Amino acid sequence: MKYNRIDSTLFTTNRQNFMAQMAPKSIAVFNSNDQYPVSADTLLPFEQHRDIFYLSGVDQEESILLMFPDAAEPEHREVLFLRETNAHIAVWEGAKLTKEAALATSGIKTVYWLYEFDRVFFQLMTQADTIYFNTNEHYRQAVETQTREDRFIEATKKKFPAHRWAKSNPILQSLRGVKHPIEIDLISKACAITNKGFRRILKMVKPGVWEYEIEAEFIHEFLCNRSKGFAYTPIIASGQNNNVLHYIENNKQCQEGDLLLLDVGAEYANYSSDMTRTIPVSGRFTKRQKDIYNAVLRVKEEATKLLVPGAFWKSYHEEVGKIMTSELLGLGLLDKADVQNQNPEKPAYKKYFMHGTSHHMGLDTHDYGLLFEPITANMVFTVEPGIYLPDEGFGVRLEDDVVVQSQGDPINLMADIPILADEIETLMNE
Ligand code: GLY
Ligand code: MN
Ligand code: MN
Repeated sequence: MKYNRIDSTLFTTNRQNFMAQMAPKSIAVFNSNDQYPVSADTLLPFEQHRDIFYLSGVDQEESILLMFPDAAEPEHREVLFLRETNAHIAVWEGAKLTKEAALATSGIKTVYWLYEFDRVFFQLMTQADTIYFNTNEHYRQAVETQTREDRFIEATKKKFPAHRWAKSNPILQSLRGVKHPIEIDLISKACAITNKGFRRILKMVKPGVWEYEIEAEFIHEFLCNRSKGFAYTPIIASGQNNNVLHYIENNKQCQEGDLLLLDVGAEYANYSSDMTRTIPVSGRFTKRQKDIYNAVLRVKEEATKLLVPGAFWKSYHEEVGKIMTSELLGLGLLDKADVQNQNPEKPAYKKYFMHGTSHHMGLDTHDYGLLFEPITANMVFTVEPGIYLPDEGFGVRLEDDVVVQSQGDPINLMADIPILADEIETLMNE
């Protein structure tokens, strides 16, 4: 791992919070992600499943976490199963977690090697009535692959058909939606690395530069700061590509007069940051570009203030829609008739701002969080309004990551990342 070891208090607390919500005589199991193949013997870089990471800090393939709060033997309340390692295996396969390192990472004292799983699991299941399965219920999930977790669920249902089944996901959605101070520090670290990357590229963007050259500068800065890379596929979109919401080719040459939309975030210790900035390729915005830019910035600032405890995600989005509508009227992009005649199901502003304003952000860039429960302190959200103008050849999106406070406005974790149009121009022309 490139990141510094995380205080295991985080994982111990997360497990305690999870176990507090489990039914009597129940077991919960969490599996690592598979290693996904390219072809021949090549694998994609490993990405740990965020749930086992959240509950244990174990960032290694073929790992299993088991929790059984009512286990007859206290040592079986929290158990890890890991790939066996020893001095010989380490020579061939590199450093894997020893039992001691697994304890230091996770705070879990009982660590078995993976080949012992079937025996121990059967023993513990004979003491349990319910098994918690970790299905993926994220509101945006569209996964077709059968995961290691899915295979575990299938096999366990066959082997233990008389047990009751329960769902881990709603518990995790609610716990992971609210961040521990250690998590907020890790997200802040990811944001700080993103800041370094952004300041670096401000010095090299000019007409003629290629989008992939900008991508290369970001990744260089991220890797130099103990990040393993981008938190999500970066969008480095110049000119008309500003208006392609999921543009990821990053293969065009930036032209004089273009805007460059950068939706780029570093990860750190599996925590994301999610930033968007829009900058002028030539170092100066035109008057029209600046007017649109400042309108988007005002919407972002006003929207942020609405992220307070008790607010609801859906009504928050409706309120932001009204703020955006008022800016679009001011810019002459909408007129009063457009608004009066609008279909409430598809308000007029959506012509220019067609995506959501905010999502939970954390271990997943589009993170867990119960969207029908009120917003609470220590939730981390993005705020990312945009105005897209294909007819004018450009679009603007601005995105920061903020932490909801128990009182007052959210804290902006990206407050140090330049965003004022004048500041961007000054930095680009230094
Ligand atoms: N970068 C992904 C998003 O902004 O939601
Ligand atoms: Mn983004
Ligand atoms: Mn986002």
